[in-house]
Amino acid sequence: MVLSLSSQNVIQYLQDAGLCSSEDGASKESELPDRSKNFNLLVNLVDNRKLLVKQERSNHHDGTPHEFFNEWLFHQLLQQFPVIGNISAIASLVLHFDEENSILVRNYLSDYQELRNFYQKTDIFADDIASAIGTTLAGLHRATFNGREYRDFMATAPAGQFRYHFYNPAQGIESIAPEIFGMVPTEALQFYTLYQRYESLESAIADLAYEWNPCCLTHNDLKLNNILVHSRWQQLDNCLVRLIDWKACAWGDPAFDLGTLLASYLEIWLSSLVVDSTLELEESLRLAVIPLEVLQPSILALTRSYLNAFPMILDYRHDFILRVIQFAGLALIYQIQDKIKCRKDFDNADMCMLQVAKNLLTMPEQGVQTVFGITQPEILKPVAKVHKLPQPEREKQLVRLYYEKTRLRGC
Ligand SMILES: Nc1ncnc2c1ncn2[C@@H]1O[C@H](COP(=O)(O)OP(=O)(O)OP(=O)(O)O)[C@@H](O)[C@H]1O
Ligand SMILES: [Mg+2]
Repeated sequence: MVLSLSSQNVIQYLQDAGLCSSEDGASKESELPDRSKNFNLLVNLVDNRKLLVKQERSNHHDGTPHEFFNEWLFHQLLQQFPVIGNISAIASLVLHFDEENSILVRNYLSDYQELRNFYQKTDIFADDIASAIGTTLAGLHRATFNGREYRDFMATAPAGQFRYHFYNPAQGIESIAPEIFGMVPTEALQFYTLYQRYESLESAIADLAYEWNPCCLTHNDLKLNNILVHSRWQQLDNCLVRLIDWKACAWGDPAFDLGTLLASYLEIWLSSLVVDSTLELEESLRLAVIPLEVLQPSILALTRSYLNAFPMILDYRHDFILRVIQFAGLALIYQIQDKIKCRKDFDNADMCMLQVAKNLLTMPEQGVQTVFGITQPEILKPVAKVHKLPQPEREKQLVRLYYEKTRLRGC
């Protein structure tokens, strides 16, 4: 019989699982803000430890694997291969997994806060934080790069069962069936219409999918709310950040992780636009409350730290930066789609986001200039000073790309 977890039975459950003793007891339990599809309980133990207890509420009668199973598998991989587990920002927080009841227990880090919230509250976009993320991510990708043992571990554990299907996230939006009319609001239909109308967008995504090149372990959901930053980050030299929520981790393409991260920074800019039917896209983008120029130093610091720690990726994929830009565009499209699905909402700001996403996907060379504010050779210059890099192609004359004369809805 499957147990339904609640604040009434959680302590008993933790005691039975050996995660707290009867003397230990719990001082109080609180539910986390309910914006996730799973049930989350934060349990405060008397010794000041905090446990995050999660239960997956969707059923799995269709045979799809539990999301938590993947996080558990990743935890086991870290135990088996300390070379990765010792990367402190990646180290596992998982204490317990109960497959039958779809329950996962993590150590809760009270000294840390979500990076997305941190940026929202403080408007501090420090290079140190961005660099720490870039170095950490490169550490994961580099340590597992072309490592057959990691790939096989993810594919076959445990007990030789084949548990995991290679997942290619460069799929674009699923094909649109008539049911969509009942599922999304009328305004959101415009997103699907525009998406289908742009042939160049479809073919750019198809090319990305074709060139999908899984070669290392990837997080696959690297948004800013899956990164924690230490509350005393300014005083610390090490471990300012922690990457959490490894439910989507898999053998994948490193450009996808970096692209998803860049898209999360771009989203801060794009969600601060002043959008009005009398304004052209170019003007809206320029009037953003948080201009792109404020975020570019973080985007640059993150990317350079990543490349400094993993320069080999540029030998392996000469077009790595262009692919990162394209994946950033794709991640923006997924964000719009998630918003439509969860909040049933699509507005003019999302139209701008779609336009930027399309441009990144279809014109990545110009996208580099837009996102970083400088050219590819300029991005690579400090990295090239330290490492011998492949010779870049002759520099082309590029212009910023998002200023296509697009009128917003209602014009
Ligand atoms: N170990 C942890 N320490 C501190 N905070 C955490 C920890 N784990 C999660 N959190 C906080 O709780 C939030 C939600 O957790 P998590 O990312 O696991 O779930 P989610 O993204 O909401 O997805 P799901 O739908 O799977 O529950 C995180 O964004 C983070 O703010
Ligand atoms: Mg999360």
